[in-house]
Amino acid sequence: MCGIVGATSERRISEILVEGLKRLEYRGYDSAGLAVLSESGSIECVRRTGKVQALKDAIGDTPLAGTTGIAHTRWATHGGVTEANAHPHISENCIAVVHNGIIENHEKLRAQLQALGYVFNSDTDTEVICHLVHHQRKTESDLFKAVQAAVRQLEGAYGTVVMDCREPGRLVVARSGSPLVIGLGIGENFIASDQLALLPVTRQFMYLEEGDMADITRTSVKVYDRSGALVQRDVHESDGQYDAGGKGQYRHFMLKEIHEQPTAVRNALEGRLVHGQVADDAFGPGSMDLLKDIEHVQIVACGTSYHAGMVARYWLESMAGVSCNVEIASEFRYRKSHVHRNSLLVTISQSGETADTLAALRLSKELSYRGSLTICNVATSSMVRESDLNYMTRAGAEIGVASTKAFTTQLVGLLMLVLAIGQHRGISDKCRNAIVSGLQALPAKLEEALLLSDEIEALAPEFADKFHSLFLGRGTQYPIAMEGALKLKEISYIHAEAYAAGELKHGPLALIDADMPVIVVAPNDELLEKLKSNVEEVRARGGIMYVFADKDAHFKSDTSMRVINVSHCDELIAPIVYTIPLQLLSYFVAIIKGTDVDQPRNLAKSVTVE
Ligand code: F6R
Repeated sequence: MCGIVGATSERRISEILVEGLKRLEYRGYDSAGLAVLSESGSIECVRRTGKVQALKDAIGDTPLAGTTGIAHTRWATHGGVTEANAHPHISENCIAVVHNGIIENHEKLRAQLQALGYVFNSDTDTEVICHLVHHQRKTESDLFKAVQAAVRQLEGAYGTVVMDCREPGRLVVARSGSPLVIGLGIGENFIASDQLALLPVTRQFMYLEEGDMADITRTSVKVYDRSGALVQRDVHESDGQYDAGGKGQYRHFMLKEIHEQPTAVRNALEGRLVHGQVADDAFGPGSMDLLKDIEHVQIVACGTSYHAGMVARYWLESMAGVSCNVEIASEFRYRKSHVHRNSLLVTISQSGETADTLAALRLSKELSYRGSLTICNVATSSMVRESDLNYMTRAGAEIGVASTKAFTTQLVGLLMLVLAIGQHRGISDKCRNAIVSGLQALPAKLEEALLLSDEIEALAPEFADKFHSLFLGRGTQYPIAMEGALKLKEISYIHAEAYAAGELKHGPLALIDADMPVIVVAPNDELLEKLKSNVEEVRARGGIMYVFADKDAHFKSDTSMRVINVSHCDELIAPIVYTIPLQLLSYFVAIIKGTDVDQPRNLAKSVTVE
């Protein structure tokens, strides 16, 4: 999704801005631009569609002369992918603006500004901001107050940074619904939508809260809250854990992140299981006081994180003795739902910034939930800061747009939640021991699953000419089939759908033919025989299957079925283990298809607009 970087310094900052944008590339974008302001008050602006490299090439080897500047990667929402729609937008050669989010009342504001004589050069909602600030500046001599007056007229979500040609060395920023972080330097200060962008220049960060505005110069940072009062925001030292590093020996971040999963899972568990019990502070200080009262769990999430929630429903209801609902955040937030007694609202999110999930969390505060918990990978995210409890997945920076290690570590966090709630609701020793030993065995089991890489790479060419595919699973493997289908469609662009295998005969069976591969997830669990019947239904209709199966499930490769044996693991952790071969399958098929694996078309990493 869109990314923002800004800087004010004594040195030329165009290289810092471009490096910052490069670090935000993983979020997904379609054009990039920057504007720098020189000491003499002239603004130089360069924008390009496509990659940040195109912007870098356009700037050339000599840094631009400006010492204050703003830069942006755009993920189109209003207006197509064109240079004119790329940010920064500039009003009357003087007010330059970058913006993340969506201004919902932009049409009305555009009409008002046009009536005042402003000429629009783009189709974006953002351009209203720079003209509005310009208009306010006609009567307001202070830039900060002019921006304040302008943003008061905005409806929707924004993280925005404003630069004025009359004030070299000054940036004014405003946050409402779209995250911004200030980076503190010595004789220079920075702003970005993600601290990752600024790690080469500072480790000191100040997170803006909802409704905050900030006035940033080289030597000072002043933050004002929603009411306009001057406030102190804490300064956090980054431990650099979220520094993406490079791809190492891997061709893509996604492949690196798939292979990091055994380590990520070890980290997610480190110090949290003590003598077979969940450590008291695993979900944050005092968490057990809240968890002991919980009788119902409402999970809300999007995409891959939603699939993790779906797996958790099977686990929570069968082992922890609580009822559980799971819902897509964009639906949950706009409907009236019944809140059960002593209900815990659980948000699951890699980024902790997904707009719909965050809105659901905020909505829950107005309802009678007993409390909220977020399972998240980014410690500094809005969801972590706004939830009562949290479980940090500690997967490390996930740069590939397609979520991999975040998902498997979310499942670890959810199994820990089953233990933590179950502890107070009489979880059986059998279940507790199975969870504990399953989690302890998990890293080694994931390592074994990764050994399937060559075999899966070898079969990927069989998907090269396919346009559609079907994924089947039962029980906890149904959401895993959904996740497998999502991975395949998002990075290989092959249409993929998942069905609970028992649903096949209620419609999708009509699709089966030799051109539509059917991927079956078949661990040796109690639903195996049922699944085998569904496999026969596909075979009888001439379908071609790829079955990821436990050796003891006794599937045999033949003309209609290719069996990929996954080494045996406990049924409980099978959803996590079987995720690995499906991730590898989508990766290698995408390689054959020649897609942009780490930044698939049209997608963004952190979806901060609804
Ligand atoms: C798919 C994927 C997305 C995200 C979804 C939610 O690979 O990554 O479906 O899972 O956008 O994002 P988070 O987890 O950051 O809330």
